Amino acid sequence: LRALSVVSEAYPLVKTGGLADVAGALPAALKPYDVAVTTLLPGYNKVMKALSRGEVLHQYRDLLGAEARLIAGTAGGLDVIVLDAPEFYARDGGPYLDPTTGKDWPDNWMRYGALGRAAADLAEGKAGDGSFDLVHGHDWQGALAPAYLRYDGSSVPSIITIHNIAFPGWFAPETFSHLGLPQRAYSIEGVEYFGGVGFLKAGLHTADAITTVSPTYAEEIRTKEFGMGLEGLIRARGDRVFGIVNGIDTNVWNPASDPNLVQQYDARTLHLRRQNRQAVEKAFGLSDGFGPIFCVISRLTTQKGMDVLASLTDDLVAMGGRLALLGSGDTKLETAFIAASNKHRGKIGVTIGYDEALSHLLQGGADAILIPSRFEPCGLTQLYGLRYGCIPVAANTGGLADTIIDANEAAVNAGVATGFLFHGVTRESLTGAIAHTIARYANRKVWKSLQEQGMRADYSWARSGRQYADLYRRFAKAGSTQAA
Ligand code: ADP
Ligand code: GLC
Repeated sequence: LRALSVVSEAYPLVKTGGLADVAGALPAALKPYDVAVTTLLPGYNKVMKALSRGEVLHQYRDLLGAEARLIAGTAGGLDVIVLDAPEFYARDGGPYLDPTTGKDWPDNWMRYGALGRAAADLAEGKAGDGSFDLVHGHDWQGALAPAYLRYDGSSVPSIITIHNIAFPGWFAPETFSHLGLPQRAYSIEGVEYFGGVGFLKAGLHTADAITTVSPTYAEEIRTKEFGMGLEGLIRARGDRVFGIVNGIDTNVWNPASDPNLVQQYDARTLHLRRQNRQAVEKAFGLSDGFGPIFCVISRLTTQKGMDVLASLTDDLVAMGGRLALLGSGDTKLETAFIAASNKHRGKIGVTIGYDEALSHLLQGGADAILIPSRFEPCGLTQLYGLRYGCIPVAANTGGLADTIIDANEAAVNAGVATGFLFHGVTRESLTGAIAHTIARYANRKVWKSLQEQGMRADYSWARSGRQYADLYRRFAKAGSTQAA
């Protein structure tokens, strides 16, 4: 079976978050099940540079207003088709944001509209040889692919995966007429969304199946609290909504061979972690202490509960904890954490920025990782933490709830606990969880058991890869049943 994955970022080529990790790992995860995945990516500068053995499949004179080419090749270990459209993608800065304004690129609707249009052309054989059995779009950036397929009347089936329903890809109504969709698509039963065009909504409405990245999040987005206005549509399509938890790339994230660590280790040699811990202390300017080192590796946003954490740094230190934080995001939160580190020198260390290598060292040396997310479709940092013996302390939501076994009395006594889950993201609940973690940390036997349990569990793609493959086969066989 041949699948076309349509996505705006993929590790190791471009990454702003977990989406890249998943898109980068999925092809290898599906290979054992006889699914060959080609990844369609925008031709950002970094992608063009990494592209090798390129072969031009198709030339566009006018793809949503730009000249473009589709080039097949390999990049970053992936089989790719790159949409080379310099007018859209050859820019410095992030994939979504203009670094000079800090805001979204104003033509994002064209940049990712074009990506969807190209995906449909590839699947329909209007570009390339049309040999794809299925199209798999990711998030709003990949979500117009199913819509184009459907309104073209194509029988190629499509799947859309929601990595985060909070990003709807909403654009002004004037954009609609430039997308090349038939007029009838501009309706509630189509791509219209709150008086404009909703890219994610369009995908959710037109794809043959919808997946999201954990079973709990699949339930949560049926509700008003989590559905961001799309809960009605999710409920209406309930029999086509599937929750498949993300795996991790166990080669990239392996404490026994990780080159970013000062000292490699495994579940039998946990005592060796001490050297990484010292390296973390050094890197974050932490002085000695008896309590655990908590770390954070995160976008600094309210989704991630970082405002709540910022409000209780005094308490964390007063309880005997230390904090090493790596992140970037909201300026206000960045400022708050820098202020906290100035106030608590030696106890709180902060690195503002994005640093892949340092994120590995933190997982390999800190004692616990704080993840107080208000919602978390899957979350990957808790999975990396589990694999590295860095105990997750997390909100009981989404994929966090599906992947962490809370250290309650029963689970601890049974020897199956792997972390700490707390309910509701408030100052009280997070402070309570931190206090609880510090108390458990003092009991070395219990702590070691938590680490070992987490490290021995399987978070690889094996199981989820099969679930995706089964879903692909089911829909590829049926052909698209979505009527336009
Ligand atoms: P999200 O995609 O919502 O940001 P995930 O937990 O799924 O959350 O994935 C986040 C990914 O980004 C992980 O691979 C994590 O290690 C990485 N990450 C987040 N912030 C940073 C940072 N400041 N430096 C390095 N890696 C980071
Ligand atoms: C999104 C979600 C995160 C998930 C990631 C990969 O960024 O916020 O929870 O792990 O996508 O699916």
